[in-house]
Amino acid sequence: MARVTTVVCVTVIATESLSKRFPRVTALDRLSVDIGPGVTGLVGANGAGKSTLIKILLGLSPATEGRAEVLGLDVAAPSSGRAIRERVGYMPEHDCLPPDVSATEFVVHMARMSGLPPAAARERTADTLRHVGLYEERYRPIGGYSTGMKQRVKLAQALVHDPELVFLDEPTNGLDPVGRDDMLGLIRRIHTDFGISVLVTSHLLGELERTCDHVVVIDGGKLLRSSSTTDFTRTTTTLAIEVTDSETHPDGTRAVREALHARGLDTRNEGAGLPGAGHILLLTAEGEETYDLVRDVVADLGLGLVRMEQRRHHISEVFTDDGHSSDEQRKEAVGHGG
Ligand SMILES: Nc1ncnc2c1ncn2[C@@H]1O[C@H](COP(=O)(O)OP(=O)(O)OP(=O)(O)O)[C@@H](O)[C@H]1O
Ligand SMILES: [Mg+2]
Repeated sequence: MARVTTVVCVTVIATESLSKRFPRVTALDRLSVDIGPGVTGLVGANGAGKSTLIKILLGLSPATEGRAEVLGLDVAAPSSGRAIRERVGYMPEHDCLPPDVSATEFVVHMARMSGLPPAAARERTADTLRHVGLYEERYRPIGGYSTGMKQRVKLAQALVHDPELVFLDEPTNGLDPVGRDDMLGLIRRIHTDFGISVLVTSHLLGELERTCDHVVVIDGGKLLRSSSTTDFTRTTTTLAIEVTDSETHPDGTRAVREALHARGLDTRNEGAGLPGAGHILLLTAEGEETYDLVRDVVADLGLGLVRMEQRRHHISEVFTDDGHSSDEQRKEAVGHGG
């Protein structure tokens, strides 16, 4: 059927005061957000409400209050559920694959469930498995697949019916750093190669930042922030600097701190209050100028620059007013390879 798309739809997903309350927990709390085409990251700590939002958007779980629209369809309207699932692909968070069948059999089955005729289902399955890099292995039973391969099968079944939009719930879960990078690359290409819009969840901001055009951060079911990735990076880039001491400046760190302050750049000590803290200064970089300014200030003081590095962004950064994460949280982010 020819799609009548003369009107350009700029909102792919819209929610208005959307809430979901379980007897003991409020999973979503009056969430209002508009999401446009492209790749959007939905970021939040465990239990933030990411999966709950996706299930409501798919029409699989009713909201307690508020409204939500997906591709212009009201998710609560009785006729919408089927229409949404025809036009939207879904990669669930948890393992849901039958071990005894091959990737080809499973993905063909899912394509048939989405309404594709047998020949088209087989053809699309082959194309999709090739896209996710499982073509060679497609006749082996899924039970013998690695975690990374299983994630790819889950991704393939979400794409096989050529949807306009896909929801990917934690697609990098359980993957090693290389597997994560591969998966993030695949996700980016879903949009660039096929024009499919993507909503992808993660608990690591740094991971999604590279892949997404737009990032939405939620915490405790509430909207914390929604902005384009470039805005996000500009305002949350943390620079860590460490300098030597000298005879003139026995406390080099302090000298740099004061000199930067005099030039209007405020710094903070990493891990302030902790034993042994104070040698690394953190500051929010506004752009290239900040790097140049730090370099000049350190050189003018006659000190050595031991390090100047951009810190990884972690979801916790947006939870604190000054945008810096604690040591422990940073280690965790690095540990996740995000
Ligand atoms: N069916 C349910 N019954 C009761 N509480 C639920 C149910 N589903 C989710 N919750 C609760 O709602 C909150 C949000 O859960 P949700 O699964 O949406 O979080 P999430 O952001 O996807 O987390 P994760 O990163 O761990 O996947 C949690 O506190 C969770 O315990
Ligand atoms: Mg989840």
